Amino acid sequence: MATVLDTVRAFFAPAPTFVIENETPADVVAREMLLDRTMGADRRKKSSEKIRRGRVPAEGLALVARDVDGHLIGTVRLWNVEAGVDGNGRPVDALLLGPLAVDCAHEGKGIGSALMRAAIAEAKARGHGAILLVGDALYYQRFGFLAEKTRHLVMPGPFARERFLALDLKSGWLDAAAGMVVGSGRKLPRTGRRQRA
Ligand SMILES: CC(C)(COP(=O)(O)OP(=O)(O)OC[C@H]1O[C@@H](n2cnc3c(N)ncnc32)[C@H](O)[C@@H]1OP(=O)(O)O)[C@@H](O)C(=O)NCCC(=O)NCCS
Repeated sequence: MATVLDTVRAFFAPAPTFVIENETPADVVAREMLLDRTMGADRRKKSSEKIRRGRVPAEGLALVARDVDGHLIGTVRLWNVEAGVDGNGRPVDALLLGPLAVDCAHEGKGIGSALMRAAIAEAKARGHGAILLVGDALYYQRFGFLAEKTRHLVMPGPFARERFLALDLKSGWLDAAAGMVVGSGRKLPRTGRRQRA
């Protein structure tokens, strides 16, 4: 009986309109165009960008959302950082999330949330301790991000303290973290030409 009910439910369930996948090199141009459209040209002046520039995202943590035709309609990437130092002066490894963006034509369908949940789950599965980001607290608090977690940390440039948020993936990971957030991820290979990751 349960099998029959499951079949009936599956038949009437709305077909998924997007999938979350790992980003591939073929996605770079579409991703950059999406970011220009959704975040504007000033996006490259942000303090977070200083941390990301010239580096590759953390392993397995560049995700995209695609529509049913395979078009890229959402993006999120996470970056290896050192979130200051702990009480013994040792760097605190963490991730910096961003940018997160969803094509305007697809906003409000849960794609941003799906990207966030997939990114958090993957970061946790890979053993990371915490995720930092700079963004709207009203949006990110639903995923557990709090400003109080970053109270002893600073970004390497201007930032709004109430928008500087973090989520512990391991309990108390950021409790003793103090100081500046700096990029620690693998550098992009130098080719003599400007590259984007
Ligand atoms: C923010 C963004 C990623 C959300 O994507 P999305 O797919 O529309 O989000 P979801 O469908 O998962 O969630 C929609 C919910 O988030 C809320 N929301 C969206 N942006 C918000 C914001 N900046 N502040 C507070 N709430 C926000 C919506 O009101 C909606 O609320 P509801 O669930 O109560 O109806 C998308 O609007 C976007 O790309 N914006 C431009 C780029 C940007 O600002 N990125 C974040 C900074 S890195």
